[in-house]
Parts: sequence; C-alpha cells; structure tokens
Amino acid sequence: MARVIATINLKGGVGKTTTTAALAEFMAADFGQRVLLIDLDPQTNLTTMMVGEERWQELNELGWTLATLFDKAVNPSAPGFDLGKAVQRNVSSVRSVRGVDLLASSLDLMDVQEGLSHRQFADPLSTRPVEVLRDAIAPIAGQYDYILVDCPPNLGMLTLNGLRLADGYIIPTIPDILSTYGIPQLQSRVAKFGERVGHPIREIGLVITKYRSASNLHRSTIERLQRDERIANVVPAWIPEATQIAQSAEFVPYGTLKRKYGTSGQYDALRMLTEDVLMNAQVLL
Ligand SMILES: Nc1ncnc2c1ncn2[C@@H]1O[C@H](COP(=O)(O)OP(=O)(O)O)[C@@H](O)[C@H]1O
Ligand SMILES: [Mg+2]
Repeated sequence: MARVIATINLKGGVGKTTTTAALAEFMAADFGQRVLLIDLDPQTNLTTMMVGEERWQELNELGWTLATLFDKAVNPSAPGFDLGKAVQRNVSSVRSVRGVDLLASSLDLMDVQEGLSHRQFADPLSTRPVEVLRDAIAPIAGQYDYILVDCPPNLGMLTLNGLRLADGYIIPTIPDILSTYGIPQLQSRVAKFGERVGHPIREIGLVITKYRSASNLHRSTIERLQRDERIANVVPAWIPEATQIAQSAEFVPYGTLKRKYGTSGQYDALRMLTEDVLMNAQVLL
C-alpha cells in the first residue's frame, strides 16, 4: 500500500505547493518511486504547476477534477466522478520525470468546501464527510509507493479529507517569526483528529523553505525550532530561497531536474530533502 503524506500549514505562501511538487518529482526521477499527487487547494497551484493552465481548463470543463468528487458527495444528483479519467498520468514539466500522476483541483472547490461543512453539521456524529477522498481513491492507492496531498492553508473539510487519508504529514515553513507561529497548536490539532478517526497521523518533519543563509533571523529561528521539544523533527536539508525555485511555478518544459531547479545548491538541497523525507516515512509510516 502507498504511504500517504499530507503537506499542511495554516499559513499561505510558505512553500507548501512548491515543496510537494519537488518531492514528487525527485521521488520519481531520482528514487524510482511511483507517486500520486492530490491537489486539494482550490487555488489549483499544484495542478497548474504540473499540467499547465490550459490543460487545467480542459480538465475543469470535462469535470475531471476533485470538485466533481466533492460535488457528488454533497449533491447526489450531480454528475458522477470518474476516477479513471480524472487521474492524469505522467505529469510534470520535466522530461526525465516518469511516474508522477495527479488528481487535479478546481477553483470550484471553494463552493464545495462550504457544502461539505453544512452536511457535516446536519449529522455531527458522521465521519463520512471527511472520508470522501479516502473512499474515492481506495481502488488505485495500491498502484503507488507514495501519495502526496497538498492541502489548503486551513483546517477545513478539504484538509480534513486529506488528513483522513494521510499516514504522516510535513509542515513547510519559512524560518521567520510569523511563519512559524502556531505550529505546535497545528500539530496537536492533527494529533487529536487522528485520535478521533482512529488512525494516527505521524509528524515526518518541519521543512525549512526559502532559507536565506545571510539572515541571522533565519538561523536563530531554525535553532529555536530545533530546540523546541514539541517539534519532533526539523528536516536537516533546508530549501534555499532561489529564483529558479520560484520560477518552477511556471509550466515550461525542462529536460532534467537540475535544469529546472538549478545547480547552485538548489538541486542538492531538494534531493537531500527528498532522501530525508523518504527515510523518515519508511521508519514512521
Ligand atoms: N525556495 C523558494 N525560493 C524562492 N521562491 C519560492 C521558494 N519556494 C516557494 N517560492 C515561491 O513563493 C510563493 C509561495 O510558494 P507556494 O509553494 O505556492 O506556497 P504555499 O503553497 O504555501 O502557498 C510562490 O510564488 C513560489 O514560487
Ligand atoms: Mg499552495
């Protein structure tokens, strides 16, 4: 069975999506893993990074996004979700990346999120609304080594659907005051949710993103996080702030990961990060 890792943080703009995309690409190209990416964020950034804006439009018009799945869960007369068609095979803008598939997000997920929470309100004891995603992907989960779930920056119904599926989670964060605020609270909310649904969700680690080596604040924040006993693990490979990593958000073709991310430390850091995450996941999940 696949190991499932959710990417969470209540903050936006901290590198959740960039980290998730890079992990999938490195897992596949450098470590031979079969990976399914699930984009749960209505902002659709992961989707457009992996298939481009035009293909996303097509998928959205065809109803081959997760909006159809959740729509159907809320509204039985809505069109059905066709998993076989929704799964996009061999995505990524990098030619050397083989074996990354994607379940696309949609801007329409914004409305769905509200419908789901109302439904749950009607029957507060039901766990069904948080199990929509898990039940839907069960038939294909065995085809993958890893399933990576990119979550929106909140703990709403979509994120809970991601966490219900997850065996573990990573928290990408910029090492500054505002970005790291509230991480222990987030961890304890996730642990409580895991207890409630009877499936532990393990902390794989905090991932330092947009690291600036010249910043004293970044260095001292990382030291503070490493000392914080509520945080089990700060992944030792820090992702540097780099123009080429920012540019990876644009869907343009590349031959290799080195070309896409750049070789002034970025490629090495992302590869090390992937190795650390894989190692922790193998021990913990
Ligand atoms: N290591 C990095 N160096 C430079 N820019 C980055 C880096 N990681 C992410 N970014 C940029 O920061 C912005 C937010 O990143 P994103 O991954 O979308 O965050 P989130 O998913 O947490 O909202 C994007 O414009 C992205 O391209
Ligand atoms: Mg994002």
